[in-house]
Amino acid sequence: MKRILSGIKPTGAPHLGNYFGMMKPAIEWQEKGEAFYFIADYHALTSVHDPKALRENTRAVALDFLACGLDPAKAVLFRQSDVPEHTELAWLLSCHTPMPMLENCHAFKDHLAKNKTPNHGLFAYPVLMAADILLYDSNVVPVGRDQKQHVEVTRDIAGSINRTYGEGLFVIPEASIIPQLATVVGLDGQKMSKSYNNTIGLFEEEKALRKKIMSIVTDSTPVEAPKDPAGSSIGALYRLVAGEADVEKMEADFRAGGTGYGDFKKRLFESLWEFFRPMRQRRAELASDPGAVDAIVKAAGERARAVAHRTMERVRTAVGLR
Ligand code: AMP
Ligand code: TRP
Repeated sequence: MKRILSGIKPTGAPHLGNYFGMMKPAIEWQEKGEAFYFIADYHALTSVHDPKALRENTRAVALDFLACGLDPAKAVLFRQSDVPEHTELAWLLSCHTPMPMLENCHAFKDHLAKNKTPNHGLFAYPVLMAADILLYDSNVVPVGRDQKQHVEVTRDIAGSINRTYGEGLFVIPEASIIPQLATVVGLDGQKMSKSYNNTIGLFEEEKALRKKIMSIVTDSTPVEAPKDPAGSSIGALYRLVAGEADVEKMEADFRAGGTGYGDFKKRLFESLWEFFRPMRQRRAELASDPGAVDAIVKAAGERARAVAHRTMERVRTAVGLR
């Protein structure tokens, strides 16, 4: 049976990039193996330094994931910090991770490029991510394209440790990335990301959502002129949430000219609102009993910790700590 694992940082409410890049594939994977998904609160600490926000975001991620169809009877949805073995394994892996490998990682490079001073947590974060994955002997890691590099780093570290202490100490994982969903665009046409302030949350209020959709950046092609559906963020987002016939209609209307971007944005809003309607209902039910959500996450933490405990016994013995 395959072991599937992925994580999401509680740095804000989940957005469409998170949903299509990771949550939706993860929810599909829960049918196909033993799935472990976690809210990466240790990771969020590299950038979230407000305790109240961290607590609230952690809960929001759990709620959203459950609302979107994560089934706690099939997948273990836990909070990373309920399993402190993640940090212990990260230290062991650090001692086998060449600095240049981390200097090459994109989050660190982006920080330098923007003249920001990265903290050590941000620099070392791919090692913690490797620990997250290796701790559960994961075979498959469903993620968006931006995480591919980190899964490669994990494979390199695991391979090097296996050569030192014996093949088979760690399972070599594989990233699972769905090409069409790998990078969801944001309001400004760049990759949708909390750090670019261009996100569309899954469960925004109707009015706020409408306003956001209307603010999607477009070019200045006049209403009458034909437009290129391939290069448009409106079209790209619409393809995620609308049915095939509606997508074909929108693309035909783009090419024909005579329809303005405002009209296309309205269609996008309607489809998006419909797409998330059942999940919105489920979310409202779950939100009425936050204690139940906390209990699901806590019980999952105990299941995850039992697995992590067994891995650490094996690893401590292998490296000579025991
Ligand atoms: P994060 O919010 O950075 O923890 O991301 C959680 C998951 O969502 C990761 O697997 C990311 O690859 C995925 N993800 C984030 N933004 C996008 C995006 N714009 N398109 C596709 N996947 C994304
Ligand atoms: N680094 C991932 C992100 O920013 C989140 C994450 C942490 C993760 N640990 C993981 C994803 C392990 C997959 C597996 O999106």
